[in-house]
Amino acid sequence: MAETTPTRPAPDRLRKAQLDFDFAARESGVMLAEPKPPSLEQRGETATRQEAAAGEQKTSVQRSRLGKRSEKAVTAEKLAAQQREISVSEFFAKNRHLLGFDNKRKALLTTVKEAVDNSLDACEEARILPALRIEVAQVTEERFRVVVQDNGPGIVKTQIPLIFGKLLYGSKFHRLKMCRGQQGIGISAAGMYGLITTGKPMSIISRTSSRAKAHHYRIAIDTKKNRPDIAHDEEVEVDWPHGTWIEIELAANYAKGRQGIDEYLEQTAIVNAHAEIEYVNPLGERRRFERATDLLPEEPREIKPHPHGIELGVLMKMLKETEAQKVGGFLQKEFSRVSPSVSKSVCAAAGVTPLTWVKQIDSQTSERLYNALQKARIMAPSTDCVAPIGAEQILAGLLKGVKAEFYTAATRNPAIYRGNPFQVEVGLAYGGDLPGDEQARVIRFANRVPLLYQQSHCTIYKAVVETNWRAYSVQQSGGALPTGPLVVMAHFASVWVPFTSESKEAIADYDEIRKEVGLGLKECARKLQVFIRRRKRTEREGERRSIFLRYIPEVSRSLSAVTGQSAKRLHDQLMHIAHTRTELADRELDEHGQFVKGKSGNVDRPDANTIIVERDGGEAVPVELFDDDHRPIEERRPANGGNRKRSKGRKRGRR
Ligand SMILES: Nc1ncnc2c1ncn2[C@@H]1O[C@H](COP(=O)(O)OP(=O)(O)OP(=O)(O)O)[C@@H](O)[C@H]1O
Ligand SMILES: [Mg+2]
Repeated sequence: MAETTPTRPAPDRLRKAQLDFDFAARESGVMLAEPKPPSLEQRGETATRQEAAAGEQKTSVQRSRLGKRSEKAVTAEKLAAQQREISVSEFFAKNRHLLGFDNKRKALLTTVKEAVDNSLDACEEARILPALRIEVAQVTEERFRVVVQDNGPGIVKTQIPLIFGKLLYGSKFHRLKMCRGQQGIGISAAGMYGLITTGKPMSIISRTSSRAKAHHYRIAIDTKKNRPDIAHDEEVEVDWPHGTWIEIELAANYAKGRQGIDEYLEQTAIVNAHAEIEYVNPLGERRRFERATDLLPEEPREIKPHPHGIELGVLMKMLKETEAQKVGGFLQKEFSRVSPSVSKSVCAAAGVTPLTWVKQIDSQTSERLYNALQKARIMAPSTDCVAPIGAEQILAGLLKGVKAEFYTAATRNPAIYRGNPFQVEVGLAYGGDLPGDEQARVIRFANRVPLLYQQSHCTIYKAVVETNWRAYSVQQSGGALPTGPLVVMAHFASVWVPFTSESKEAIADYDEIRKEVGLGLKECARKLQVFIRRRKRTEREGERRSIFLRYIPEVSRSLSAVTGQSAKRLHDQLMHIAHTRTELADRELDEHGQFVKGKSGNVDRPDANTIIVERDGGEAVPVELFDDDHRPIEERRPANGGNRKRSKGRKRGRR
């Protein structure tokens, strides 16, 4: 008989299994009996035996458990030898996606955007009405040349290399003033991207006045040292009195449409009605965005931080760096809205006096001072440090760019986040030619700059999603944008925009900001709801009336046959009844979503920030369905393509 599988292991097998188990246990650090810690040599020996036993099959993890280091293992000394400072330009050259250069199409947009934003900032600061010329030309299949020229104040010669050849160099970072740029990175990063992808340094010509010579530079950025490499420097003749001209060649892709240069410039022109922009695209098409107003926006004032919302560490740093010697002076000088009386009460609450020396403030007193500042009643920040676009301009922009029926806008009062004042403006456009079965489009701006990417990371988007649109008669599925013929526009204006990254594409989700955007949205949504509800009622009544009208001729003829009365008289009487019973169908909505006139003749709640436009397509509010003889006048209704109801007087006069 053939031998069967043994039911009990033979003693030598048992011994081997025990040996294997011991090795495994030792390897994994689990010992059954308390072992003596092996010496270094013993450990080495054990490892050698193990490796032999396991046939060199051990993983590196297992080896490291043994605590043995291979000869190649890094020591603290080796690591120390590798430590080096990283220059900011090296960092961003590696991480260029952080600056908005993550793909070729976006790289083109970012380059144009950085240059245009700088030009608009410079012109506004110099109180010059901006006139910009932008040309994007295709050099080879994947290489483009961007030229941006402005009529700004120009840049003094010595500053040109630093501005364009050094990252983190600029005039806007250390102040609290509303402007488009703030980091001191934008234009030099665009130049660096151009240099890395094409090897060509950027060109700059700048002239500060008609009496001064223009300077032409070609500048490359030395990424290792984050400093400019001047490739060319000469005086040149130009035919413009002042301004800056820049040229960058870069690897890029061009496509028209959403999230491209064309959309960016269209939106920029809408919210910068004081700018004149000429744009030649890579297809050679020339577009001109005319200046709509000769008035520059109010110059936003540079301010000091507001005490509410400032952090303890920041206060301590300010105490360290201030030039003020006494606490009272410090509070009044370094913060906005701190009057002598506020300063006195804050000092009293913190257990010091306004005459206490700043140098005597220790960390505990700083904390008391901080708490007193947060609790003190301090005036809200002044409104002149931010320059909103204005409801009128938002409406004009929406009217120009979106074919809707109902437009409304709201400007919130200034508020504060982390001590920084900000103001939110919101606009809504609804109906008309907008697609009814898609999610709403959200158009975002920060300090008058369109934000085209990273929508879902932006607090504006989050506020739109969080708003309960169903409460305002607009469809919405949970956690999503509302669905319907709706465009939402929001502008965030602040002395400091908390962007989520250096590419400045989305606003960080601060509770205070999201709340303000939400309140602005609700304000607009309430007006939209009035419009939607009333229009629905008007439409319902219109439908009822059209049913009556369909049967009145037939009914009046039959009644006449039965009663022998005049068919015309019966017809007129029935018409009159139909007309009075469906009176709402005759009512128009004024630009506030309210019924115009009515029999009582009242128009309530005037609101300058809402406009209603009639559009073709049978969707418009019924205007006049019957003539004076109560005959339907549908066929006589003029086919006007967009009759904007601006003047209530005119409408009422007509009736
Ligand atoms: N066209 C221009 N005319 C005048 N000054 C300019 C112009 N372009 C740039 N500057 C100056 O160069 C500085 C650096 O510009 P850069 O775009 O690198 O940074 P920024 O605009 O300060 O901030 P951000 O990185 O957010 O754009 C600006 O602060 C501004 O003072
Ligand atoms: Mg800039």
